Amino acid sequence: MTKSAVTVIAIDGPAASGKGTLARQIARHYDYAYLDTGSLYRATGLAVLAAGGDPNDDEAALAAAQALDAAHIDEGAIRTREAGDAASIVAVKPAVRAAILDFQRDFAASPPGGKKGAVLDGRDIGTVVCPDATVKLFVTASPEIRAHRRWLELNKSGVEVSEAQILEDVRERDRRDAERAVSPMRPASDAHLLDTSNLSIEAAFDMAVAIIDKAMS
Ligand code: DC
Repeated sequence: MTKSAVTVIAIDGPAASGKGTLARQIARHYDYAYLDTGSLYRATGLAVLAAGGDPNDDEAALAAAQALDAAHIDEGAIRTREAGDAASIVAVKPAVRAAILDFQRDFAASPPGGKKGAVLDGRDIGTVVCPDATVKLFVTASPEIRAHRRWLELNKSGVEVSEAQILEDVRERDRRDAERAVSPMRPASDAHLLDTSNLSIEAAFDMAVAIIDKAMS
């Protein structure tokens, strides 16, 4: 397969690995469009909950995915633990993933705003959504470090929850994301691994840019 004219940077990794922050910074640095694909699954999960449905219900989950309006996602509402949990439940369903796939591929093929490139972050961007991406990063960190980062974030926004509870959530999300049959979370064979456990946001960004510049040169 030939690489497309649009530069596509695929950034995958587990929950709270720092991939979202990194992906946003990378998109700004190269002036590329950015898509947080987790927000699509979160909005789908949240829509099911908001309608009084059960995210485990195949039909309710598919209907929510098909009705998804990516341009009007409530960024505040989708960031809760409940939405994250519902997201990882609907994301297991092949029909939900298929419904969301085209939107992601179109975004990568024709980035909005006439941008010359797109940065997509998620779990299966390098393996399934954009297997021909120009550069692939798999960003990770230990579960304890990720739980600590998420706990700090929630704490700052006034949510009272123990770090042990967050660690349990992180492990459960990892298990669900990595063990599902369709598009499980895993590094693409040609992905560059970036472990941010002992890196500041700035250091992780510098390493990512070095990898991307080298891959594009
Ligand atoms: O990255 P996040 O925490 O916002 O993702 C929420 C959930 O969505 C996560 O548990 C797995 C799912 N997801 C996915 O299955 N595939 C993607 N490309 C992105 C997210």
